[in-house]
Amino acid sequence: MRTRLCDLLGIQFPIIQAGMGSFTSPELVAAVSNAGGLGSLGASTRSAASLKQDLVRVQELTDRPFAVNHTVRFLDKEAFALTLKAKPALVTFAIDSPGELVQRAHDAGILVMYQVPTAQRAREAVRLGVDVIIAQGAESGGFGGVVTTLTLLPQIVDIAGSIPVVAAGGIADGRGLAAALTLGAQGINIGTRFLASVECPASPQWKQAILAAQSEDTLKFEAWNDIFPVPEGGYPVVPRVLSSPFVEEWMNRREDASRESERLQGEIGAAIEQGTWGELLPFTGQTAGLIHEVLPAGEIVRRIMAEATQTLRAASKLLT
Ligand SMILES: Cc1cc2nc3c(=O)[nH]c(=O)nc-3n(C[C@H](O)[C@H](O)[C@H](O)COP(=O)(O)O)c2cc1C
Repeated sequence: MRTRLCDLLGIQFPIIQAGMGSFTSPELVAAVSNAGGLGSLGASTRSAASLKQDLVRVQELTDRPFAVNHTVRFLDKEAFALTLKAKPALVTFAIDSPGELVQRAHDAGILVMYQVPTAQRAREAVRLGVDVIIAQGAESGGFGGVVTTLTLLPQIVDIAGSIPVVAAGGIADGRGLAAALTLGAQGINIGTRFLASVECPASPQWKQAILAAQSEDTLKFEAWNDIFPVPEGGYPVVPRVLSSPFVEEWMNRREDASRESERLQGEIGAAIEQGTWGELLPFTGQTAGLIHEVLPAGEIVRRIMAEATQTLRAASKLLT
């Protein structure tokens, strides 16, 4: 099964492991890329110094293409410069418009992918001249919008024209890949399923919580934008999480969250530094309800491909 995304990126299978900040590691990225997909190293919540080391390590572990993800709102300029120097096959952006960063990546000979939560942002992505657009549905773990993948993806496929579109949110197995391809996507971008992989540096407790969760156990942590107001020129996105004492408390005290925003920003910053983010804000998508075991990332890629092939074969029989 080859798609235009495979040809563009030089990968075997149209499966991208999403950039998930410091919950990606060189081992995870290399496992996905070596299995024929595209691994992504997340730069968000990772210091420039550790990004530098991790980029070297990825290139030791794989000679296959990989991506580096940057969130525009929280962009670390030094880390972005390091990414351009390392020359991954692809740079991916999310959360606010990448603007002139697209041209800078292109000037460095790097392809650009922009993850968007609305049709309006997809039109902007076309104007910016990105090479791939991710249509990110509301089911996604981490920051996202309110429109579901089934509704958003075909709209963005229509807007994108010849630009390949990748689907994100609500996809954890080969049936999801088959559905996305049928709706016109050229590939998928998966976070939560890879969060629950052997190589992912998320804590064992978080992985177990994903296995135990039903889809309805995830919620949009609306208090985020009380703590971190959307900056001028930005657009509102809200993280989807599993509940935690922090989530519960501030969802019930939104006005206080606004008043105490500075202190809470400090608390979240400290959790990033101390590696306890997963206890505070366990970003997780609705696909948690579809995930029943922690597997090696390469095995996840192989299973998704086998299931998708079987699903598409079965679907084609509907025509006979
Ligand atoms: C723990 C976690 C962290 C994430 N961090 C980022 C990030 O730093 N940058 C980004 O573009 N997307 C991030 N995402 C969103 C993913 O790119 C992707 O859209 C999403 O995971 C897809 O939905 P799924 O979780 O249902 O597979 C994150 C998702 C998760 C689960």
